[in-house]
Amino acid sequence: MNDPANLEFTPETMRAMGHAVVERAVAHIAGLGSMPSNGNFDGIEDLCRSLAEPEPLDGTTLDALLDPLFEQWIPRSFGTPGPGYLAYIPGGGIYPAALADFIADTANRYTGIWQAAPALVQLEANALDWMRGWMQFPATARGIFTPGGSMAMFNAIAAAREQRLGTDIRAGTLYVSSQSHHSITKAARLAGIAHDRVRTIEVDENFRMRVDALQLAIGADRSAGLKPFMVFSTAGTTNTGAVDPIDAVAELCTREALWHHVDGAYGAFFHMVPELRPLLAGLPRADSLTLDPHKGLFLPYGTGALLVRDGEALRALHASEAGYLPDNQNEFYDPAQYGPDLSRGFPGLRIWLTLKLLGSDRYRAALSEKRGLACWAAGEVAKIPGIVMDAPPQLSLFAFHLEHGSLPTLEAQNAATRTLMQRVTARGRVMLTGAQVGERFLGRVCVLSFRTRRAQMQACIEDIAAETAAILSKRQD
Ligand SMILES: Cc1ncc(COP(=O)(O)O)c(C=O)c1O
Repeated sequence: MNDPANLEFTPETMRAMGHAVVERAVAHIAGLGSMPSNGNFDGIEDLCRSLAEPEPLDGTTLDALLDPLFEQWIPRSFGTPGPGYLAYIPGGGIYPAALADFIADTANRYTGIWQAAPALVQLEANALDWMRGWMQFPATARGIFTPGGSMAMFNAIAAAREQRLGTDIRAGTLYVSSQSHHSITKAARLAGIAHDRVRTIEVDENFRMRVDALQLAIGADRSAGLKPFMVFSTAGTTNTGAVDPIDAVAELCTREALWHHVDGAYGAFFHMVPELRPLLAGLPRADSLTLDPHKGLFLPYGTGALLVRDGEALRALHASEAGYLPDNQNEFYDPAQYGPDLSRGFPGLRIWLTLKLLGSDRYRAALSEKRGLACWAAGEVAKIPGIVMDAPPQLSLFAFHLEHGSLPTLEAQNAATRTLMQRVTARGRVMLTGAQVGERFLGRVCVLSFRTRRAQMQACIEDIAAETAAILSKRQD
Protein backbone atom coordinates (compact mmCIF):
# COMPACT_ATOMS: atom_id res chain seq x y z
CA MET A 1 0.00 0.00 0.00
CA ASN A 2 3.05 2.29 0.25
CA ASP A 3 3.18 2.42 -3.53
CA PRO A 4 -0.37 3.05 -4.75
CA ALA A 5 0.66 2.97 -8.41
CA ASN A 6 1.81 -0.64 -8.11
CA LEU A 7 -1.28 -2.67 -9.11
CA GLU A 8 0.40 -6.10 -9.10
CA PHE A 9 -0.54 -8.73 -6.51
CA THR A 10 1.94 -11.09 -4.89
CA PRO A 11 1.74 -14.76 -5.98
CA GLU A 12 0.46 -15.74 -2.51
CA THR A 13 -2.31 -13.14 -2.67
CA MET A 14 -3.30 -14.20 -6.17
CA ARG A 15 -3.52 -17.84 -5.08
CA ALA A 16 -5.62 -16.94 -2.04
CA MET A 17 -7.94 -14.79 -4.14
CA GLY A 18 -8.30 -17.56 -6.73
CA HIS A 19 -9.08 -20.12 -4.03
CA ALA A 20 -11.70 -17.86 -2.48
CA VAL A 21 -13.46 -17.47 -5.83
CA VAL A 22 -13.25 -21.15 -6.78
CA GLU A 23 -14.60 -22.20 -3.36
CA ARG A 24 -17.64 -20.00 -3.74
CA ALA A 25 -18.22 -20.79 -7.41
CA VAL A 26 -18.09 -24.54 -6.79
CA ALA A 27 -20.37 -24.27 -3.75
CA HIS A 28 -22.77 -22.26 -5.90
CA ILE A 29 -22.82 -24.91 -8.62
CA ALA A 30 -23.27 -27.67 -6.04
CA GLY A 31 -26.30 -25.82 -4.65
CA LEU A 32 -28.02 -25.10 -7.98
CA GLY A 33 -30.32 -28.11 -7.68
CA SER A 34 -31.82 -26.87 -4.42
CA MET A 35 -32.29 -23.24 -5.47
CA PRO A 36 -35.66 -22.11 -6.83
CA SER A 37 -35.47 -22.36 -10.63
CA ASN A 38 -37.10 -18.99 -11.06
CA GLY A 39 -34.71 -17.11 -8.75
CA ASN A 40 -35.69 -15.06 -5.73
CA PHE A 41 -36.88 -11.58 -6.63
CA ASP A 42 -38.22 -10.47 -3.24
CA GLY A 43 -37.56 -6.79 -2.72
CA ILE A 44 -35.63 -6.52 -5.96
CA GLU A 45 -36.48 -2.87 -6.73
CA ASP A 46 -35.34 -1.70 -3.31
CA LEU A 47 -32.22 -3.79 -3.63
CA CYS A 48 -31.38 -2.24 -7.01
CA ARG A 49 -31.92 1.26 -5.67
CA SER A 50 -29.66 0.53 -2.72
CA LEU A 51 -26.91 -0.77 -5.03
CA ALA A 52 -26.40 2.53 -6.84
CA GLU A 53 -23.24 3.98 -5.36
CA PRO A 54 -20.50 6.54 -6.01
CA GLU A 55 -17.15 5.42 -7.36
CA PRO A 56 -15.05 3.57 -4.79
CA LEU A 57 -11.97 5.70 -4.12
CA ASP A 58 -10.49 3.11 -1.78
CA GLY A 59 -10.39 -0.63 -2.18
CA THR A 60 -12.35 -3.29 -0.28
CA THR A 61 -11.40 -6.84 0.67
CA LEU A 62 -12.33 -9.56 -1.81
CA ASP A 63 -14.46 -11.40 0.78
CA ALA A 64 -16.52 -8.29 1.41
CA LEU A 65 -17.34 -8.25 -2.32
CA LEU A 66 -17.91 -11.97 -2.75
CA ASP A 67 -20.28 -12.32 0.21
CA PRO A 68 -23.15 -10.21 -1.14
CA LEU A 69 -22.42 -11.27 -4.72
CA PHE A 70 -22.95 -14.94 -4.01
CA GLU A 71 -25.44 -14.64 -1.15
CA GLN A 72 -27.70 -11.82 -2.25
CA TRP A 73 -27.23 -10.71 -5.82
CA ILE A 74 -26.58 -13.83 -7.90
CA PRO A 75 -29.56 -15.71 -6.40
CA ARG A 76 -31.85 -12.84 -7.42
CA SER A 77 -31.76 -13.82 -11.09
CA PHE A 78 -33.46 -16.36 -13.31
CA GLY A 79 -31.94 -19.74 -12.48
CA THR A 80 -30.37 -20.01 -15.94
CA PRO A 81 -27.59 -22.48 -15.03
CA GLY A 82 -29.87 -24.67 -12.92
CA PRO A 83 -31.27 -28.08 -13.86
CA GLY A 84 -34.89 -26.88 -13.77
CA TYR A 85 -34.42 -24.08 -16.27
CA LEU A 86 -36.74 -24.99 -19.15
CA ALA A 87 -37.64 -21.41 -20.07
CA TYR A 88 -36.75 -19.44 -23.23
CA ILE A 89 -33.79 -21.31 -24.76
CA PRO A 90 -31.68 -22.61 -21.89
CA GLY A 91 -27.96 -21.96 -21.80
CA GLY A 92 -25.44 -23.90 -19.81
CA GLY A 93 -22.39 -22.74 -17.90
CA ILE A 94 -20.28 -25.87 -18.09
CA TYR A 95 -17.42 -25.64 -15.57
CA PRO A 96 -14.30 -26.15 -17.73
CA ALA A 97 -15.34 -23.17 -19.84
CA ALA A 98 -15.00 -20.94 -16.77
CA LEU A 99 -11.48 -22.25 -16.23
CA ALA A 100 -10.71 -21.53 -19.89
CA ASP A 101 -11.94 -17.95 -19.41
CA PHE A 102 -9.70 -17.64 -16.36
CA ILE A 103 -6.71 -18.80 -18.39
CA ALA A 104 -7.63 -16.55 -21.32
CA ASP A 105 -8.00 -13.54 -19.04
CA THR A 106 -4.88 -14.10 -16.96
CA ALA A 107 -2.72 -14.96 -19.97
CA ASN A 108 -4.40 -11.99 -21.70
CA ARG A 109 -2.96 -12.69 -25.11
CA TYR A 110 -4.08 -10.70 -28.10
CA THR A 111 -5.66 -12.86 -30.78
CA GLY A 112 -6.87 -10.21 -33.23
CA ILE A 113 -4.02 -10.88 -35.63
CA TRP A 114 -2.41 -14.26 -36.26
CA GLN A 115 1.15 -12.98 -35.70
CA ALA A 116 0.43 -11.95 -32.11
CA ALA A 117 -0.42 -15.45 -30.85
CA PRO A 118 -0.20 -17.97 -33.73
CA ALA A 119 -0.63 -21.15 -31.71
CA LEU A 120 -3.58 -19.77 -29.76
CA VAL A 121 -5.27 -18.57 -32.94
CA GLN A 122 -4.78 -22.07 -34.34
CA LEU A 123 -6.70 -23.56 -31.39
CA GLU A 124 -9.55 -21.18 -32.14
CA ALA A 125 -9.38 -22.13 -35.83
CA ASN A 126 -9.59 -25.78 -34.77
CA ALA A 127 -12.74 -25.12 -32.74
CA LEU A 128 -14.34 -23.36 -35.73
CA ASP A 129 -13.26 -26.20 -37.97
CA TRP A 130 -14.86 -28.80 -35.69
CA MET A 131 -18.13 -26.88 -36.01
CA ARG A 132 -17.66 -26.73 -39.76
CA GLY A 133 -17.31 -30.51 -39.77
CA TRP A 134 -20.38 -31.10 -37.59
CA MET A 135 -22.43 -28.89 -39.90
CA GLN A 136 -20.99 -30.61 -43.00
CA PHE A 137 -19.88 -27.31 -44.51
CA PRO A 138 -17.09 -27.45 -47.15
CA ALA A 139 -13.42 -26.82 -46.40
CA THR A 140 -13.71 -23.38 -48.03
CA ALA A 141 -16.01 -22.23 -45.22
CA ARG A 142 -14.71 -19.77 -42.63
CA GLY A 143 -16.23 -18.42 -39.49
CA ILE A 144 -15.94 -16.14 -36.54
CA PHE A 145 -16.80 -16.26 -32.87
CA THR A 146 -19.22 -13.55 -31.79
CA PRO A 147 -20.77 -12.57 -28.46
CA GLY A 148 -23.97 -14.37 -29.46
CA GLY A 149 -26.39 -15.28 -32.21
CA SER A 150 -27.48 -11.69 -32.79
CA MET A 151 -24.01 -10.57 -33.82
CA ALA A 152 -23.57 -13.68 -35.95
CA MET A 153 -26.72 -12.60 -37.78
CA PHE A 154 -25.35 -9.07 -38.22
CA ASN A 155 -22.11 -10.30 -39.74
CA ALA A 156 -23.98 -12.67 -42.05
CA ILE A 157 -26.27 -9.93 -43.36
CA ALA A 158 -23.36 -7.54 -43.82
CA ALA A 159 -21.39 -10.19 -45.78
CA ALA A 160 -24.38 -11.06 -47.99
CA ARG A 161 -25.19 -7.39 -48.54
CA GLU A 162 -21.60 -6.63 -49.54
CA GLN A 163 -21.41 -9.56 -51.96
CA ARG A 164 -24.90 -9.36 -53.48
CA LEU A 165 -25.71 -5.64 -53.39
CA GLY A 166 -22.38 -3.83 -53.29
CA THR A 167 -23.08 -0.13 -52.73
CA ASP A 168 -26.65 -0.27 -54.06
CA ILE A 169 -28.22 -1.44 -50.82
CA ARG A 170 -31.55 0.41 -50.76
CA ALA A 171 -33.16 -1.89 -53.33
CA GLY A 172 -32.15 -5.06 -51.47
CA THR A 173 -34.90 -7.12 -49.81
CA LEU A 174 -34.51 -9.80 -47.19
CA TYR A 175 -36.98 -12.54 -46.14
CA VAL A 176 -37.79 -13.95 -42.70
CA SER A 177 -40.79 -15.92 -41.44
CA SER A 178 -43.33 -14.68 -38.92
CA GLN A 179 -41.62 -17.06 -36.46
CA SER A 180 -38.04 -15.91 -37.14
CA HIS A 181 -36.10 -14.46 -34.23
CA HIS A 182 -36.44 -10.71 -33.80
CA SER A 183 -32.66 -10.35 -33.72
CA ILE A 184 -32.63 -10.77 -37.52
CA THR A 185 -34.65 -7.62 -38.21
CA LYS A 186 -32.50 -5.76 -35.71
CA ALA A 187 -29.32 -7.08 -37.32
CA ALA A 188 -30.67 -6.09 -40.74
CA ARG A 189 -31.18 -2.54 -39.50
CA LEU A 190 -27.63 -2.45 -38.15
CA ALA A 191 -26.36 -3.74 -41.50
CA GLY A 192 -28.17 -0.99 -43.41
CA ILE A 193 -31.24 -2.98 -44.51
CA ALA A 194 -34.17 -0.88 -43.31
CA HIS A 195 -37.36 -2.41 -41.88
CA ASP A 196 -39.31 -1.64 -45.06
CA ARG A 197 -37.01 -3.99 -46.95
CA VAL A 198 -37.58 -6.95 -44.61
CA ARG A 199 -40.43 -9.22 -45.73
CA THR A 200 -42.24 -11.44 -43.24
CA ILE A 201 -43.43 -14.72 -44.74
CA GLU A 202 -46.32 -16.61 -43.18
CA VAL A 203 -45.94 -20.06 -41.66
CA ASP A 204 -47.90 -23.32 -42.04
CA GLU A 205 -49.85 -25.11 -39.31
CA ASN A 206 -46.57 -26.49 -37.93
CA PHE A 207 -45.09 -22.97 -37.65
CA ARG A 208 -42.71 -23.58 -40.58
CA MET A 209 -42.02 -21.00 -43.26
CA ARG A 210 -44.29 -21.46 -46.30
CA VAL A 211 -42.05 -21.86 -49.31
CA ASP A 212 -44.88 -21.07 -51.74
CA ALA A 213 -45.50 -17.76 -49.97
CA LEU A 214 -41.77 -17.06 -50.02
CA GLN A 215 -41.66 -17.67 -53.76
CA LEU A 216 -44.57 -15.27 -54.30
CA ALA A 217 -43.01 -12.54 -52.16
CA ILE A 218 -39.72 -12.78 -54.05
CA GLY A 219 -41.56 -12.58 -57.36
CA ALA A 220 -43.56 -9.55 -56.24
CA ASP A 221 -40.42 -7.73 -55.16
CA ARG A 222 -38.64 -8.49 -58.42
CA SER A 223 -41.67 -7.20 -60.34
CA ALA A 224 -41.53 -4.01 -58.29
CA GLY A 225 -37.92 -3.47 -59.36
CA LEU A 226 -36.42 -4.45 -56.02
CA LYS A 227 -33.46 -6.80 -55.51
CA PRO A 228 -34.16 -9.85 -53.32
CA PHE A 229 -30.79 -10.96 -51.93
CA MET A 230 -31.15 -12.99 -48.73
CA VAL A 231 -33.51 -15.51 -47.12
CA PHE A 232 -33.47 -16.65 -43.48
CA SER A 233 -34.75 -20.03 -42.44
CA THR A 234 -34.64 -21.27 -38.87
CA ALA A 235 -33.35 -24.55 -37.49
CA GLY A 236 -35.53 -24.46 -34.38
CA THR A 237 -37.62 -21.37 -33.70
CA THR A 238 -37.65 -19.84 -30.24
CA ASN A 239 -41.44 -19.88 -29.87
CA THR A 240 -42.32 -23.45 -30.83
CA GLY A 241 -39.07 -25.14 -31.89
CA ALA A 242 -40.16 -25.36 -35.53
CA VAL A 243 -37.57 -26.36 -38.09
CA ASP A 244 -38.29 -24.65 -41.40
CA PRO A 245 -38.20 -26.74 -44.60
CA ILE A 246 -34.52 -25.89 -44.94
CA ASP A 247 -33.92 -28.13 -47.93
CA ALA A 248 -36.81 -26.64 -49.91
CA VAL A 249 -35.71 -23.10 -49.02
CA ALA A 250 -32.16 -23.99 -50.11
CA GLU A 251 -33.56 -25.26 -53.40
CA LEU A 252 -35.51 -22.06 -53.97
CA CYS A 253 -32.50 -19.91 -53.06
CA THR A 254 -30.31 -21.80 -55.53
CA ARG A 255 -32.91 -21.30 -58.25
CA GLU A 256 -33.33 -17.61 -57.43
CA ALA A 257 -29.61 -16.99 -56.77
CA LEU A 258 -30.29 -15.76 -53.22
CA TRP A 259 -28.05 -16.01 -50.13
CA HIS A 260 -29.62 -18.53 -47.75
CA HIS A 261 -28.83 -18.08 -44.07
CA VAL A 262 -29.93 -20.66 -41.52
CA ASP A 263 -30.49 -19.43 -37.98
CA GLY A 264 -29.31 -22.40 -35.96
CA ALA A 265 -28.88 -20.48 -32.70
CA TYR A 266 -31.13 -22.94 -30.90
CA GLY A 267 -31.05 -26.06 -33.03
CA ALA A 268 -27.89 -26.37 -35.11
CA PHE A 269 -25.85 -28.36 -32.59
CA PHE A 270 -28.31 -31.24 -32.88
CA HIS A 271 -26.61 -31.71 -36.26
CA MET A 272 -23.57 -33.00 -34.33
CA VAL A 273 -25.55 -36.18 -33.73
CA PRO A 274 -25.65 -38.24 -36.94
CA GLU A 275 -28.96 -39.95 -36.03
CA LEU A 276 -30.63 -36.55 -35.61
CA ARG A 277 -29.37 -35.03 -38.87
CA PRO A 278 -32.54 -35.92 -40.80
CA LEU A 279 -34.41 -33.51 -38.49
CA LEU A 280 -32.32 -30.69 -39.98
CA ALA A 281 -32.20 -31.88 -43.58
CA GLY A 282 -30.69 -29.30 -45.91
CA LEU A 283 -28.74 -27.43 -43.19
CA PRO A 284 -25.36 -28.18 -44.82
CA ARG A 285 -26.58 -26.41 -47.98
CA ALA A 286 -26.82 -23.01 -46.24
CA ASP A 287 -24.67 -20.12 -47.43
CA SER A 288 -24.21 -19.13 -43.81
CA LEU A 289 -25.23 -20.42 -40.42
CA THR A 290 -25.73 -18.91 -36.97
CA LEU A 291 -24.57 -21.12 -34.12
CA ASP A 292 -24.87 -20.34 -30.44
CA PRO A 293 -22.36 -22.39 -28.44
CA HIS A 294 -23.77 -20.71 -25.32
CA LYS A 295 -26.92 -22.71 -26.01
CA GLY A 296 -26.25 -26.05 -27.71
CA LEU A 297 -22.66 -26.48 -26.51
CA PHE A 298 -23.70 -25.57 -22.94
CA LEU A 299 -21.09 -22.81 -22.65
CA PRO A 300 -21.51 -19.78 -20.41
CA TYR A 301 -23.23 -16.81 -22.07
CA GLY A 302 -21.13 -14.76 -24.45
CA THR A 303 -20.29 -17.13 -27.28
CA GLY A 304 -22.03 -17.23 -30.61
CA ALA A 305 -20.52 -18.19 -33.93
CA LEU A 306 -21.03 -17.66 -37.63
CA LEU A 307 -20.04 -20.02 -40.42
CA VAL A 308 -19.97 -18.77 -44.00
CA ARG A 309 -19.80 -21.32 -46.80
CA ASP A 310 -17.73 -19.09 -49.08
CA GLY A 311 -15.11 -17.96 -46.58
CA GLU A 312 -13.86 -15.35 -49.03
CA ALA A 313 -17.21 -13.53 -48.78
CA LEU A 314 -16.68 -13.06 -45.04
CA ARG A 315 -13.09 -12.01 -45.62
CA ALA A 316 -14.09 -9.54 -48.34
CA LEU A 317 -16.29 -7.78 -45.78
CA HIS A 318 -13.75 -7.60 -42.97
CA ALA A 319 -10.23 -7.68 -44.38
CA SER A 320 -8.31 -4.45 -43.92
CA GLU A 321 -4.71 -3.33 -43.62
CA ALA A 322 -2.78 -0.79 -41.59
CA GLY A 323 0.77 0.48 -41.95
CA TYR A 324 1.50 -0.22 -38.30
CA LEU A 325 0.42 -3.89 -38.47
CA PRO A 326 2.10 -6.96 -40.00
CA ASP A 327 0.85 -8.13 -43.40
CA ASN A 328 -2.36 -10.14 -43.44
CA GLN A 329 -1.89 -13.85 -43.13
CA ASN A 330 -2.94 -16.11 -45.98
CA GLU A 331 -1.91 -19.59 -44.91
CA PHE A 332 -3.39 -19.46 -41.41
CA TYR A 333 -6.70 -18.25 -39.98
CA ASP A 334 -6.42 -14.54 -39.11
CA PRO A 335 -9.35 -13.47 -36.89
CA ALA A 336 -9.47 -9.73 -37.67
CA GLN A 337 -9.82 -10.54 -41.37
CA TYR A 338 -13.02 -12.47 -40.74
CA GLY A 339 -14.76 -10.38 -38.09
CA PRO A 340 -15.25 -6.78 -36.99
CA ASP A 341 -13.01 -6.89 -33.90
CA LEU A 342 -9.33 -6.00 -33.90
CA SER A 343 -8.41 -6.13 -30.23
CA ARG A 344 -10.03 -9.23 -28.85
CA GLY A 345 -9.54 -11.77 -26.10
CA PHE A 346 -9.50 -15.48 -26.68
CA PRO A 347 -13.14 -16.55 -27.00
CA GLY A 348 -12.33 -19.87 -28.67
CA LEU A 349 -10.46 -21.25 -25.67
CA ARG A 350 -13.66 -22.02 -23.75
CA ILE A 351 -14.84 -24.21 -26.62
CA TRP A 352 -11.47 -25.77 -27.39
CA LEU A 353 -10.66 -26.64 -23.77
CA THR A 354 -14.12 -27.99 -22.95
CA LEU A 355 -14.33 -30.10 -26.11
CA LYS A 356 -10.83 -31.49 -25.61
CA LEU A 357 -11.52 -32.26 -21.95
CA LEU A 358 -14.86 -34.02 -22.50
CA GLY A 359 -14.57 -35.26 -26.08
CA SER A 360 -17.32 -34.62 -28.61
CA ASP A 361 -19.02 -37.99 -28.04
CA ARG A 362 -20.12 -36.85 -24.58
CA TYR A 363 -21.79 -33.88 -26.26
CA ARG A 364 -23.56 -36.16 -28.70
CA ALA A 365 -24.78 -38.26 -25.78
CA ALA A 366 -26.03 -35.19 -23.90
CA LEU A 367 -27.79 -33.68 -26.91
CA SER A 368 -29.49 -37.01 -27.70
CA GLU A 369 -30.58 -37.27 -24.09
CA LYS A 370 -32.13 -33.77 -24.13
CA ARG A 371 -34.13 -34.61 -27.24
CA GLY A 372 -35.23 -37.91 -25.73
CA LEU A 373 -36.34 -36.16 -22.53
CA ALA A 374 -38.32 -33.58 -24.49
CA CYS A 375 -40.05 -36.27 -26.57
CA TRP A 376 -40.94 -38.30 -23.50
CA ALA A 377 -42.16 -35.28 -21.51
CA ALA A 378 -44.22 -33.98 -24.45
CA GLY A 379 -45.94 -37.37 -24.68
CA GLU A 380 -46.78 -37.26 -20.96
CA VAL A 381 -47.91 -33.63 -21.00
CA ALA A 382 -50.15 -34.31 -24.00
CA LYS A 383 -52.02 -36.92 -21.90
CA ILE A 384 -52.96 -34.35 -19.22
CA PRO A 385 -56.70 -33.57 -19.48
CA GLY A 386 -57.12 -29.99 -20.69
CA ILE A 387 -53.78 -29.77 -22.51
CA VAL A 388 -53.72 -29.43 -26.29
CA MET A 389 -50.31 -30.03 -27.85
CA ASP A 390 -49.73 -27.41 -30.56
CA ALA A 391 -46.14 -28.29 -31.38
CA PRO A 392 -44.65 -31.67 -30.43
CA PRO A 393 -40.83 -31.56 -30.29
CA GLN A 394 -39.13 -31.26 -33.63
CA LEU A 395 -35.88 -30.97 -31.65
CA SER A 396 -36.17 -30.52 -27.86
CA LEU A 397 -38.89 -27.87 -27.44
CA PHE A 398 -42.66 -28.37 -27.32
CA ALA A 399 -45.57 -25.95 -27.07
CA PHE A 400 -49.16 -26.39 -25.94
CA HIS A 401 -52.18 -24.57 -24.56
CA LEU A 402 -55.11 -25.14 -22.23
CA GLU A 403 -58.50 -25.85 -23.70
CA HIS A 404 -61.57 -26.95 -21.74
CA GLY A 405 -65.33 -26.51 -21.53
CA SER A 406 -64.77 -24.05 -18.68
CA LEU A 407 -62.59 -21.88 -20.96
CA PRO A 408 -65.09 -20.87 -23.64
CA THR A 409 -63.11 -18.13 -25.39
CA LEU A 410 -59.65 -17.79 -26.84
CA GLU A 411 -59.06 -15.01 -24.35
CA ALA A 412 -59.92 -17.31 -21.43
CA GLN A 413 -57.68 -20.06 -22.82
CA ASN A 414 -54.81 -17.62 -23.25
CA ALA A 415 -55.21 -16.30 -19.71
CA ALA A 416 -55.36 -19.83 -18.28
CA THR A 417 -52.26 -20.93 -20.23
CA ARG A 418 -50.38 -17.87 -19.00
CA THR A 419 -51.47 -18.63 -15.44
CA LEU A 420 -50.32 -22.22 -15.85
CA MET A 421 -46.80 -21.07 -16.80
CA GLN A 422 -46.70 -18.72 -13.81
CA ARG A 423 -47.99 -21.25 -11.32
CA VAL A 424 -45.71 -24.06 -12.42
CA THR A 425 -42.78 -21.65 -12.21
CA ALA A 426 -43.84 -20.41 -8.77
CA ARG A 427 -43.51 -23.96 -7.46
CA GLY A 428 -39.77 -23.49 -7.90
CA ARG A 429 -38.81 -26.87 -9.33
CA VAL A 430 -38.78 -25.83 -12.99
CA MET A 431 -38.99 -22.47 -14.71
CA LEU A 432 -41.27 -22.19 -17.78
CA THR A 433 -42.10 -19.26 -20.05
CA GLY A 434 -44.74 -19.01 -22.74
CA ALA A 435 -44.98 -17.09 -26.00
CA GLN A 436 -47.65 -15.19 -27.88
CA VAL A 437 -47.90 -16.82 -31.30
CA GLY A 438 -50.44 -15.07 -33.46
CA GLU A 439 -53.72 -15.00 -31.55
CA ARG A 440 -52.72 -17.71 -29.13
CA PHE A 441 -50.60 -17.67 -26.00
CA LEU A 442 -48.67 -20.93 -25.90
CA GLY A 443 -47.04 -22.63 -22.97
CA ARG A 444 -43.65 -24.09 -23.83
CA VAL A 445 -40.93 -26.31 -22.45
CA CYS A 446 -37.41 -26.24 -23.86
CA VAL A 447 -34.89 -28.85 -22.76
CA LEU A 448 -31.34 -27.77 -23.49
CA SER A 449 -29.47 -27.32 -20.23
CA PHE A 450 -26.88 -30.06 -19.76
CA ARG A 451 -27.96 -30.17 -16.10
CA THR A 452 -31.59 -31.08 -16.94
CA ARG A 453 -32.06 -34.80 -16.40
CA ARG A 454 -35.02 -37.12 -16.04
CA ALA A 455 -35.81 -36.03 -12.47
CA GLN A 456 -36.45 -32.43 -13.51
CA MET A 457 -38.61 -33.53 -16.44
CA GLN A 458 -40.60 -35.76 -14.10
CA ALA A 459 -41.08 -32.73 -11.83
CA CYS A 460 -42.10 -30.64 -14.84
CA ILE A 461 -44.77 -33.16 -15.89
CA GLU A 462 -46.08 -33.48 -12.31
CA ASP A 463 -46.27 -29.73 -11.77
CA ILE A 464 -47.98 -29.08 -15.12
CA ALA A 465 -50.51 -31.82 -14.31
CA ALA A 466 -51.18 -30.53 -10.79
CA GLU A 467 -51.56 -26.88 -11.81
CA THR A 468 -53.67 -27.71 -14.85
CA ALA A 469 -56.05 -29.66 -12.64
CA ALA A 470 -56.13 -26.82 -10.10
CA ILE A 471 -56.81 -24.15 -12.74
CA LEU A 472 -59.56 -26.16 -14.44
CA SER A 473 -61.28 -27.30 -11.23
CA LYS A 474 -61.34 -23.70 -9.95
CA ARG A 475 -62.98 -22.61 -13.21
CA GLN A 476 -65.65 -25.23 -12.74
CA ASP A 477 -66.48 -24.20 -9.14
C1 LIG B 1 -33.59 -18.97 -32.73
C2 LIG B 1 -32.76 -17.86 -32.13
N1 LIG B 1 -32.07 -17.05 -32.95
C3 LIG B 1 -31.31 -16.05 -32.47
C4 LIG B 1 -31.21 -15.80 -31.13
C5 LIG B 1 -30.37 -14.66 -30.64
O1 LIG B 1 -29.19 -15.17 -30.09
P1 LIG B 1 -28.39 -14.40 -28.93
O2 LIG B 1 -29.36 -14.22 -27.80
O3 LIG B 1 -27.27 -15.32 -28.62
O4 LIG B 1 -27.93 -13.10 -29.49
C6 LIG B 1 -31.91 -16.60 -30.24
C7 LIG B 1 -31.83 -16.34 -28.78
O5 LIG B 1 -32.46 -16.92 -27.96
C8 LIG B 1 -32.70 -17.68 -30.75
O6 LIG B 1 -33.40 -18.47 -29.93
